[in-house]
Amino acid sequence: SSVSSDKATQETPSYACQRRTPLHHHNKEIVDALQILALSASFQGSEARYLGFTRAASVLKCLPFTLQSAEEVKDLQFCGGHSKTVIQEILEDRVCREVEMVKNSEHYQSMKVGFKVLTGIFGVGIRTADKWYRDGIRSLSDLNEIEGKLTGEQKAGLLHYTDLQQPVTRDEAERVEQLVKGALQSFVPDVQVTMTGGFRRGKQEGHDVDFLITHPNEEALNGLLRKAVAWLDSKGSILYHHIKGRSHNFARSSTMDGHETCYAIFALPNACPEKSPDAGTIQPDLDKSPPRNWKAVRVDLVVAPYSEYSYALLGWTGSKHFERELRRFSLQVKKMSLNSHGLFDIEKKCHYPATSEEEIFAHLGLLYLTPSERNA
Ligand code: GTP
Ligand code: MN
Ligand code: MN
Repeated sequence: SSVSSDKATQETPSYACQRRTPLHHHNKEIVDALQILALSASFQGSEARYLGFTRAASVLKCLPFTLQSAEEVKDLQFCGGHSKTVIQEILEDRVCREVEMVKNSEHYQSMKVGFKVLTGIFGVGIRTADKWYRDGIRSLSDLNEIEGKLTGEQKAGLLHYTDLQQPVTRDEAERVEQLVKGALQSFVPDVQVTMTGGFRRGKQEGHDVDFLITHPNEEALNGLLRKAVAWLDSKGSILYHHIKGRSHNFARSSTMDGHETCYAIFALPNACPEKSPDAGTIQPDLDKSPPRNWKAVRVDLVVAPYSEYSYALLGWTGSKHFERELRRFSLQVKKMSLNSHGLFDIEKKCHYPATSEEEIFAHLGLLYLTPSERNA
């Protein structure tokens, strides 16, 4: 009937990949609060509560107006139960007591520290940060005391903690891009390098800089990442790196991705300062150690064969929640398995090649969303 179809069009679609989620929205205070509870839930190992708060926050990011009253919350998807009480408390009191308690709790605060020291290899952060907490580690100095037991990556994260805690600006991301392109192009002049992740979605800062590397001739990609990283390393631009080789034996239907990936910490040289008129007239202070002229920046480099490039681009542009929802939609609604390599139709038992992100959305029967509309 027309009544039910009217109602259907007013409802928020269930999956975040069916909605346009802009970077800037109208309910920042509430969204931030829900995201703190989501992070805290994941720190406690509760995936279900993490998803509940994340979905509520994600729905609010799409609202075209600022919530004013508790009354407006009752028809919103995924905004019932616990999320609803949080939203209502913020609307009425401006703060939510639970959120304030979580923010100040020892577990949340030390998990955040532990999490940051782990420089971000996907998925392994929470388990290790929680183990450190259970071992009584509460601060950076506690971590320093067990330094001998840390992996190389964790040591690097600890050593460069102060820098890695600072957000990476767009200007810094662009200077990393020049470094990365220069290194790759010195081996393959027409290699294609694309900045992905949050910066591609329009964010002005991020926790790292993500790049996707490809070339129409797949031979040109053989050994390229290792050579370029070794070259950058020899110039002193790399503080830490770990290369994960391409895995050829992953199942196409699984959600595991197997592209060759480099997780790195770069020493990014500072931007050239504007020359001040009296530069050079100041006497150097010999008692002071020279100012550091670089900043540690987390960088992810991913190599995808040309045939998988569009899937890898879609998979590495995020957001994390958008990607999760896209894969869930594919599986539950379309009976298709999506990852950064391709799309597999489980019932028809076939793969769908794609040469653009638009084609992938079309294969899934979804309205195309530009990267800046994927900030779910
Ligand atoms: P910030 O870096 O915090 O600004 O946000 P971001 O959206 O760029 O996050 P991040 O760099 O963590 O990840 C970018 C995208 O790559 C997200 O969609 C993730 O889902 C995806 N991603 C991150 N790590 C991995 C990984 O190890 N494997 C795969 N396949 N995807 C990953
Ligand atoms: Mn990123
Ligand atoms: Mn990343």
